[in-house]
Amino acid sequence: MKMEGKRIILMGPPGGGKGTQARLLQDEFGIVQLSTGDMLRAAVKAGTEIGLKAKAVMEAGQLVSDDLMVGVIKARIAEPDCANGFILDGFPRTIPQAEALDTMLADMNMGLDAVIEVRVPDEMIVERITGRYSCAKCGAGYHDKFQKPKVEGVCDVCGSTEFIRRKDDTAETVETRLEAYHRQTAPLLPYYEERGLLKTIDGAAPIDDVTRQLVDAVAG
Ligand code: AP5
Repeated sequence: MKMEGKRIILMGPPGGGKGTQARLLQDEFGIVQLSTGDMLRAAVKAGTEIGLKAKAVMEAGQLVSDDLMVGVIKARIAEPDCANGFILDGFPRTIPQAEALDTMLADMNMGLDAVIEVRVPDEMIVERITGRYSCAKCGAGYHDKFQKPKVEGVCDVCGSTEFIRRKDDTAETVETRLEAYHRQTAPLLPYYEERGLLKTIDGAAPIDDVTRQLVDAVAG
């Protein structure tokens, strides 16, 4: 399956599996994952100006401003590794972000190949999010029930025994994040459908099944 050079957007609710799938495609096909959530968490950790602006907003489960996000992604897309294609995971999340993305890609003579909606019902999201954790050293993602390491307490990828949970992964914050998704991000689905780019896959299926659907959707 030829993935080289593809430019894909993964859309879906918080905890819907976008990051899990984007990382798998990155490992399998070498197209880079651009996760705005990961970029912001790195900025918070490093204490940069962007991180200081984003921290409280993220912990409350709300969306960071469009201006800040567009600036972050514009700088990232211009980097050389994106020339081989990329998977946007968590961006765009509002109509103004989608319009800004259209403009920046047009300025670089680039277009999008597909926008894939990973559809997961709201009632599955709390369990997905509250069970999530990741390796403190390499960032590999796990879940208490759905994605356990092969050896309990040891990261499959780097062997570390330290794990972390995200501050916004609480049952209370999930509600705010879902509300933000339905109100601010879901309007992007008709936006991309009108442009003939939208494909929807069943994100409620097991992880490897979702990967198969995703690869087929990008190929077809
Ligand atoms: P972000 O990091 O993007 O969070 P999110 O959209 O809420 O998405 P998640 O990372 O929570 O979930 P995911 O879909 O990647 O699921 P995962 O694969 O981990 O953003 C965080 C915050 O940053 C936002 O709230 C906002 O404040 C800010 N932000 C970021 N981008 C922004 C933007 N563009 N504009 C404004 N603000 C922005 O899966 C979840 C769990 O389920 C894992 O444990 C996994 O193992 C498990 N799992 C995955 N798939 C399956 C499956 N098929 N079956 C069973 N379990 C599964």
